[in-house]
Amino acid sequence: MGKHLTSIGDLENWEVEKIFEYAEEFLERGGNGELKGRVVINVFFENSTRTRSSFEMAAKKLGAEVINLDVERSSTSKGETLFDTAANLDAMGPDAIVVRHRWAGVPELLSKYLRHSVIINGGDGAHQHPTQALLDLFTLRRKWGDVKGKKIAIVGDIRNSRVANSDIELLTRFGVEVTLVGPPQFLPQLPLPKSYKLEEVLDKVDGVIALRTQTERHHSPTFASLHDFAVLYQINGEKLKGRSIVILHPGPVNRNVELSDEVVEGENSLILEQVKNGVAVRMGILKYLLEG
Ligand code: NCD
Repeated sequence: MGKHLTSIGDLENWEVEKIFEYAEEFLERGGNGELKGRVVINVFFENSTRTRSSFEMAAKKLGAEVINLDVERSSTSKGETLFDTAANLDAMGPDAIVVRHRWAGVPELLSKYLRHSVIINGGDGAHQHPTQALLDLFTLRRKWGDVKGKKIAIVGDIRNSRVANSDIELLTRFGVEVTLVGPPQFLPQLPLPKSYKLEEVLDKVDGVIALRTQTERHHSPTFASLHDFAVLYQINGEKLKGRSIVILHPGPVNRNVELSDEVVEGENSLILEQVKNGVAVRMGILKYLLEG
C-alpha cells in the first residue's frame, strides 16, 4: 500500500518536485498504461465538476479503471457509518479512493480504517484541498519558472476556503510571498500580510488567486449581498488596467462577482490552464502514490 494524501503537509518538497516531474512528462507525451489493471474509486459526498472528472480523466489516461460511487444511492444514506462504507470499499481491493466530504477531517479519519487502498483528499470542508494546491503551484511554475520571491494575493472568502488553506501552505513553502485580501470577516488569523484594499495590493503583486464566496459554509450572512462584495473586491478590466498580473481561480467562478467576464476570458487568465494542468498533476499524484 502506498501513501495517503489527506493534506498538503503529507508531501515534502522533494515529493512535490517528483510529482511535477511526472506531470510535465504526462503533459508532453500523455499516459502510457502506467496504471493498467489498477482501480480508482471516486467517493464524492459533496458536489463537484472539475475535481471528480479531473481524477477520472487522470486515472483513465493512465489506463486505470474508475468507479464513481453514487453516494445518493449508497448505503451511507441507509445509516451505514462512513467508516463501514470505507472499510467495505477497501475490502474490495481498489488501489485508491478519492474522497470529498463537507466535514473537515473525514479523509484522514477514513485513512485509518483502510488496509489496502490509498486515500486521496478531494476536498474536506473548509480544511484542505491538496491536489488543488499542487495544480496551482504547478501552473505558476509553468508560467514563471522559479516562483521564489513572487508575490501572490489570495482574494475573497479565505477563512472558509480549503483551497486557500492548502495554497497558503504550499506556496509559502516554495518561497511565494502571499498577501490575504478581503473584508475582515473573510480573513483568517494567520501571520501573513493582510489588506482590506484590493486596489493597493494590485499595485504590488504578480498574481491573484480569486476565490468564490463559500455561502454554503456561512451560518449567518456575512455580506449584505454578493453585489456589495463585488463592488469592493471584484477583479475587473478597470482594476487590472494593463497590469500583467496573472489570474487564477479554482472554479466554480461566480461570474461578475469575484471576476468580471472580461477577466475570466482575458489574456491574464490562467483558469483553463489550471484545469488542463490539473489532469496532468493528478496523473502525477496517482503515479507517485501508487508506484512511488
Ligand atoms: C473548490 C472546492 O470545491 O473546494 N473547487 C474545486 O475543487 N475546484 C472551490 C469552491 O468550491 O469554491
